Amino acid sequence: MSGAVDKIEVAGFRHFFQSESGPVQATSIIDLRIQAGEFVTLVGPSGCGKTTLLKAIAGFIKPSEGRIFCNGRPVTGPGRDRGVVFQELAILPWRTVRRNIGHGLDIAGTKPAERDRIVARLIDLVGLRGFEDRYPHELSGGMRQRVAVARTWAADPDVILMDEPFAAVDAMTRLTLQEELARLCATTNKTVFFITHGVEEAVFLGDRVLVMTRRPGRIKAEIAVPRRTPGGRDWESFTADPEMQAICEQVLRLVREERGATLVAGDGASVVPAA
Ligand SMILES: Nc1ncnc2c1ncn2[C@@H]1O[C@H](COP(=O)(O)OP(=O)(O)OP(=O)(O)O)[C@@H](O)[C@H]1O
Ligand SMILES: [Mg+2]
Repeated sequence: MSGAVDKIEVAGFRHFFQSESGPVQATSIIDLRIQAGEFVTLVGPSGCGKTTLLKAIAGFIKPSEGRIFCNGRPVTGPGRDRGVVFQELAILPWRTVRRNIGHGLDIAGTKPAERDRIVARLIDLVGLRGFEDRYPHELSGGMRQRVAVARTWAADPDVILMDEPFAAVDAMTRLTLQEELARLCATTNKTVFFITHGVEEAVFLGDRVLVMTRRPGRIKAEIAVPRRTPGGRDWESFTADPEMQAICEQVLRLVREERGATLVAGDGASVVPAA
């Protein structure tokens, strides 16, 4: 597309892990471009290589093959231009909500007044007003997850990489967090790459949904999701929208094909790719 800026470019990526019984091929060849301001979601069967791809983009693992660029520069390790939110919580139990969210800013040497302004805005955006001085153990799982999201946002990275960030919270809280994330993205215009097992979550949040095959995964389909009301996504209108429901069904079919393929082939951990 002319004029569009690639925030992330993955070119000819393929990854093998070394194990005692020899190399494990985590992914097939993956090519991917994510433009500035895009929200791209990724679904695929367990073990197909989603986290591997995300960690490579984050700079935590060095690709066996291929290259990854962020803002046109080769990724050689983690960087402040890319923030990561994992499923496992990464907040500090001995710091309050306010100090957790401001942690990265403290490390970066942001002036206290500026830090407090950024933190206060994020606390509002993620709905934690009134809980600023609580410690993580005094919060619910959903609230802790909001702290983790706000903390990543506070450092103001260009790109946010999220690996099943809401998988561990209850279903009702998850709906709220998804709506909040959609709103947060619309207000801050981040580029987001988001991994999930939830087909509806992928379609609700994504401008584009990518579907991976079973391991060693490659991207087998890409579905554009027309975003009618930027920033104004809510589950009621999403569920009532036949077009959105049709897209969910399409993605679900693509994902289930892979599960079927795995089941036919037997043990999912030792499936040999067809091609
Ligand atoms: N550090 C590692 N050492 C060896 N093998 C690994 C390592 N990390 C992942 N793998 C293997 O690579 C494959 C892909 O793993 P990955 O974590 O990327 O899958 P995933 O798609 O994120 O799965 P899930 O949906 O269950 O999180 C799996 O077969 C896994 O066993
Ligand atoms: Mg994973």
